[in-house]
Amino acid sequence: MELYNFLKDITLQAGENIRKQLNEPLLIETKSNPNDLVTNMDKATEKFLFDRIQDTYPDHRIIGEEGSGKDIDNLNGVIWIIDPIDGTLNFVHQQENFAISIGIFIDGEKYAGVVYDVMRDILFEARAGYGAYKNGVKLENITETPLATSIISMNPNWLTKDFTRDIYIPLVRDSRSARSYGSAALDFAYVASNKINAYITLRLHPWDFAGGLIIVEEVGGIVTNQLGEPVNLLTANSIVVANKSLHTEIMNDYLSPFKLELEKIHQGRFSKR
Ligand code: IPD
Ligand code: CA
Ligand code: CA
Ligand code: CA
Repeated sequence: MELYNFLKDITLQAGENIRKQLNEPLLIETKSNPNDLVTNMDKATEKFLFDRIQDTYPDHRIIGEEGSGKDIDNLNGVIWIIDPIDGTLNFVHQQENFAISIGIFIDGEKYAGVVYDVMRDILFEARAGYGAYKNGVKLENITETPLATSIISMNPNWLTKDFTRDIYIPLVRDSRSARSYGSAALDFAYVASNKINAYITLRLHPWDFAGGLIIVEEVGGIVTNQLGEPVNLLTANSIVVANKSLHTEIMNDYLSPFKLELEKIHQGRFSKR
């Protein structure tokens, strides 16, 4: 419980730091391509969280998007998986619609997760086995929905690529409607709070979903990769997160028919973070 409260405290403090510095000049760099941005605020937030955790719990290990724990290759002990700003493009372009995402795992078992919508000051949180909360209010178990009356979230880029178009167009076509929010952590939180019914994406890193996974599974959400396998916390993964019956419908009727194509896409692609 002490660890859980500490997790929530430092998350809220990190969010406050971001809000306070929102009008300061931003240093923006590119990473793997011209649209893959990182800012001084992403780095400063990861450093703030890293330093606070190390000061208080020196034996805990930390994996973070902006460089922490690159050499970690097992889940022994207490592991923090941190995305200091999930939705950096939204942060840069919109100054909203981004989140701090943190999951804590102990010997590979879920302990607790947070997804903090910084500008709306909404904290989604869960301790494994104790339910999930949105700003202190317990979330209900999510409702089961058929695809035909579901809102799904998916990055439209996957519909523009030759190697994925045929797989995902039927899903979008047969759903009630599709959305794209630009923050995977918020997508998980929105599935958990029943705002959307599924989120499907082809490539996420552990820091994108570690916090959201713990939250959504507390309210009955199912999280697997697109081959129906459990997700791996040490590598990149494809993702399907949805309420139970919708997850089954998506897997059986939409993704399994493309099993061979999806296996080919997965081969090699997800072998590292
Ligand atoms: C990204 C966001 C985005 C998702 C990308 C992620 P970042 O994280 O979650 O919604 O589509 O795959 O990389 O880089 O903004 O932390
Ligand atoms: Ca990034
Ligand atoms: Ca991210
Ligand atoms: Ca990030």
